[in-house]
Amino acid sequence: MDIKSKNINTIISPELKTNFKNFPMVPRVIFGAGCFGQLGEILLPKRVNSEAPFIFLVDDVFEGTDLISRIPLIFNDQIIFISADEEPKTDQVDALVHKIKNDYDHLPSGIIGIGGGTLLDLSKAVAIMLTNKGNAYQYQGWDLVKKPSIYHVGIPTISGTGAEVSRTTVLLGPEKKLGINSDYTTFDQVLMDPDLTKGVPKEQWFYTGMDCFIHCIESLNGTYLNAFSQSYGEKALELCKEVYLEDLQMDEARNKLMMASWHGGMSIAYSQVGVAHAMSYGLSYLLGVRHGIGNCLVFQHLKEFYPEGVELFNKMKEKHNIQLPKGICSELTNDDFEIMTNVALGLVPLWENAIGKEWRTIITPEKLKSIYQKI
Ligand SMILES: [Fe+2]
Repeated sequence: MDIKSKNINTIISPELKTNFKNFPMVPRVIFGAGCFGQLGEILLPKRVNSEAPFIFLVDDVFEGTDLISRIPLIFNDQIIFISADEEPKTDQVDALVHKIKNDYDHLPSGIIGIGGGTLLDLSKAVAIMLTNKGNAYQYQGWDLVKKPSIYHVGIPTISGTGAEVSRTTVLLGPEKKLGINSDYTTFDQVLMDPDLTKGVPKEQWFYTGMDCFIHCIESLNGTYLNAFSQSYGEKALELCKEVYLEDLQMDEARNKLMMASWHGGMSIAYSQVGVAHAMSYGLSYLLGVRHGIGNCLVFQHLKEFYPEGVELFNKMKEKHNIQLPKGICSELTNDDFEIMTNVALGLVPLWENAIGKEWRTIITPEKLKSIYQKI
């Protein structure tokens, strides 16, 4: 056997085949206070032609602010303001794609998302659905996207979700809350300017930051943990502790939380989230509870799964004088609990990560209902 044919045999030999995830990363990232000023020069070489615009999807809290005047619009570029009051939905993605296709004869040069997790997820989904047929809900799941998306850029204006780095875009669909997980979801470029997070209200800053903290706890305590996830998770957790338990300068805290979000997202990219996320998806599906606060509402009752994490969470909550709302589930019916429980139980990889392959012996509908009832 010559060397060439031996190599080919090695490649295709089934007994040597492994099953590790080969996941995409954001190929370009710019970080630093004020780097938003470089957006124009970053986009210029990506413009297909003067007829192919850049579409900026922007959180409508920025309407009329200085940030809008700094968006480098040329030719027929367009800004679309979107409310982030509700979680992103599949039909919202379809409506945006329809509008963009209606407004222009050509596909855009790119989609630029400016905002929190909602805007980043919408931007990723719109970029995918501009090149893939059908409706967004048909792609909720793992690796269902067939064609590459158009160029898309994520610019976070709040830190914690990890949406800037993830290969998913979590959407509320007609039947489920589930991400479009694909190699084409990941952003082509991320711009991280900590100055853009300056005006975030305190509660939102806390809840979204806790999303990152919970990513770390769920990743570091999961059965999917590996050296890759651990290295990012430990760094993100350390940064979260600095930001939420120490008294940092404001600009230092903004820089560190932005990096915590990135590292937390990287950690779960190669492992998985866990109990709080699974149950929070149920809350969000039935009641429209936002992701960050939903995670906090569940996490406070998860001492039996994450004892040290819950203790740290309580310390952070106390330090920042955060009062979580109570009685969210107090008037729900048995049918309501069943809906939430079904959504949560459907997220098999999350439970496998949190508990292990035998998770069904511990996690039952009754068990989940008893936790939901405390919220
Ligand atoms: Fe999350």
